[in-house]
Amino acid sequence: MEILNLYGSLNGQTEKVALEIAKVAEQAGHNVSTVNLKKEGVIFDLLKYDLTFVGSGVYTWLPGKSVKEWIERQLGYARDNDLILPGSPRVPGKFACVYCTYAGPHTGEAEAIPAIKYMGQLFDHLGISVADEWSVVGAFVPGKMQHFNTSGRLGNIEGRPNADDLKQVREKTAGLLSSLQECVVD
Ligand SMILES: Cc1cc2nc3c(=O)[nH]c(=O)nc-3n(C[C@H](O)[C@H](O)[C@H](O)COP(=O)(O)O)c2cc1C
Repeated sequence: MEILNLYGSLNGQTEKVALEIAKVAEQAGHNVSTVNLKKEGVIFDLLKYDLTFVGSGVYTWLPGKSVKEWIERQLGYARDNDLILPGSPRVPGKFACVYCTYAGPHTGEAEAIPAIKYMGQLFDHLGISVADEWSVVGAFVPGKMQHFNTSGRLGNIEGRPNADDLKQVREKTAGLLSSLQECVVD
């Protein structure tokens, strides 16, 4: 499969997940392009890829700035090229996996859900089916915010994503890739 592996990461937490995805997908023999969306102006022909991963940290229950701005650019490109059609008909063989890393300090996983859904809507509008949605716990990195890592709704999340979290990411990546193997359209 041709795989696009996109992520935005303010403090490197989402990048840890993105690198695990890349490792598993490459080991399984797929062509993987991994891109940190912090680069301004980057736009992709998403329909060229069989599977696109997009990940972001969560900031006020939405993706971070670099991912939100990228979605805006992709929407502009899609509108300019008439890629968003009434009913958003499915494009066979085109899939996305959207995920976030989040700390859920106030309301827990409820803070991750809108971020994931927001990212997924870009693909759904284009007819690219959202094959999976993941939320991975990611602790606050800035020193002055670390008290949230022991006082929030998720309890103690220090050190997350930890080795177990990243193992789960690898397992879910492998599972998703196998599940789509027969769906690729040449
Ligand atoms: C300034 C700031 C604001 C944050 N706001 C939220 C938030 O509203 N909800 C949440 O669940 N996590 C929040 N977090 C935690 C991050 O989403 C989490 O640490 C994530 O793993 C960071 O990923 P990144 O370093 O890849 O951007 C915040 C972190 C920072 C630094």
